[in-house]
Amino acid sequence: MDTKILVTGANGQIGQVLTQALKKHHGDEQVIPSDITKLDQGDHTNFVFLDILNEVRLREVIADHKITQVYHLAAILSANGEWNPMKTWNVNLNGYLSLLEIARVSTIKKVFFPSTIAVFGSTTPQMNTPQDTILEPTTIYGMSKCSGELWSNYYHKRYGLDVRSIRYPGIISHQSIPAGGTTDYAVEVFHEIIKHGSYECFLTQNTRLPMMYIDDAIRATIELMDAPSDDLKTRTGYNLSAISFTPFELFTEIKKHIPLASFRYKPDFRQAIADSWSESIDDSRARTEWNWDHQYDLPKMVEIMIKEVSKKYKA
Ligand code: NAD
Ligand code: SER
Repeated sequence: MDTKILVTGANGQIGQVLTQALKKHHGDEQVIPSDITKLDQGDHTNFVFLDILNEVRLREVIADHKITQVYHLAAILSANGEWNPMKTWNVNLNGYLSLLEIARVSTIKKVFFPSTIAVFGSTTPQMNTPQDTILEPTTIYGMSKCSGELWSNYYHKRYGLDVRSIRYPGIISHQSIPAGGTTDYAVEVFHEIIKHGSYECFLTQNTRLPMMYIDDAIRATIELMDAPSDDLKTRTGYNLSAISFTPFELFTEIKKHIPLASFRYKPDFRQAIADSWSESIDDSRARTEWNWDHQYDLPKMVEIMIKEVSKKYKA
């Protein structure tokens, strides 16, 4: 059977870039992007409206397009999740369970479930967090993703469904302006500095978090999904690491390019969320089992972000 891919939440920060990468990798016609909102501009080829909570429509889209793989990105992120915990649980977990149940008895052979560093909590070792560790998340987002990981493992072990997952760090990209996450400051700052020359950060200057440039995240996702199934021993979520930095370190790097940039710190409720997460991640299992390696460090990422975000405002 031909590979036919459904991407849920395709208009989000990761979805927009991943959809294009999947089209390049598998062919335009093989990829069906879906979301509850449509992009104002950009590539709409094959787009379908799909609310992950509408199980009838989900079943219909999967059957109509004979979907064989799903990249299930639809979710409500950490900061927004705290405004509406019940809705977040419903979208992030119940939406995923509908998909797993359909996948079990349909044409779907492989599922990608994006997990997150938000599965960790204050009882998790914060430095070089091991793959197998204490998972006691304190946000509803982290709770829903932690449960999602366990369900992924269950469907793999019990029904043989080929579910694969990464615990993404905070993702830094220039293609869109993310909203609703705790790591978003590391993207917002580029837009604000380039537009206005100043930025007020909602985390303290010494808050260290694991981060990753979008190209590394997309490559990791596709490499994991292409890896031979027998090599993958972890069906909850793979730890994945690239760079860890504090706002102060990021802003110092930005100042090398834009010396007049100014930064202030005004922590809000997102500080407590960030404080409960890891500072750095041990991803040796991903490196051993499917040869993961990151390519972007802090200086390289900052240089590209400044170049790409500047182009947007010049245009
Ligand atoms: P995003 O918020 O930018 O995009 C999520 C998309 O899901 C949005 O386009 C939204 O419209 C859609 N959506 C929300 N509710 C929906 C519903 N009921 N039905 C269908 N679609 C719905 O998020 P993102 O940053 O692109 O993240 C994608 C995935 O990766 C998420 O599952 C997220 O948990 C995970 N992740 C992201 C990061 C990050 O830093 N961006 C880090 C770790 C994990
Ligand atoms: N970047 C995400 C957030 O901040 C983590 O999954 O919510």
